Amino acid sequence: MTKEEKYQELLAQAAAVVAGETDMIANMANVAALIHETFGFWWTGFYRVAPSDSPIKGERKELVLGPFQGPPACMRIPYGKGVCGTAWEKNETVIVPNVHEFAGHIACSSESNSEIVVPVRRNGEVIAVLDIDSKEFNTFDEIDKKYLEQIVKLL
Ligand code: SME
Repeated sequence: MTKEEKYQELLAQAAAVVAGETDMIANMANVAALIHETFGFWWTGFYRVAPSDSPIKGERKELVLGPFQGPPACMRIPYGKGVCGTAWEKNETVIVPNVHEFAGHIACSSESNSEIVVPVRRNGEVIAVLDIDSKEFNTFDEIDKKYLEQIVKLL
């Protein structure tokens, strides 16, 4: 199966899984599992935009770890920080072919070498991000972006 064919199947599975459930955390959990199982990525999960636990720093919201598959990860990421915070700030998908060359990359795991972060939106506003890490360099391209953006629209 080509990568596109795998994504087409994954999209159909994800649509079926979320169809009967309105709870977004439950849907994020199964969508993360489906993506992770299909491609065998190193880490696949969500960070939700949530109230900051230290608003004294100025920003009232930050990314907080949500449902994921893979090793334990950083729990809070500030606005504009790392690949995740950058995708949130820009409100667009960020593809990083080599995380070691991304200024401000937050290394939750030294095993990660490339990454994609896709915003999850409600009424145009970012409410979460989907973050996927790969042990290989240059894992993610426009095909991943195209299908992952469609998958997060299901949430
Ligand atoms: N590398 C991410 C942090 C999250 S972990 O990869 C799971 C970043 O730079 O935002």
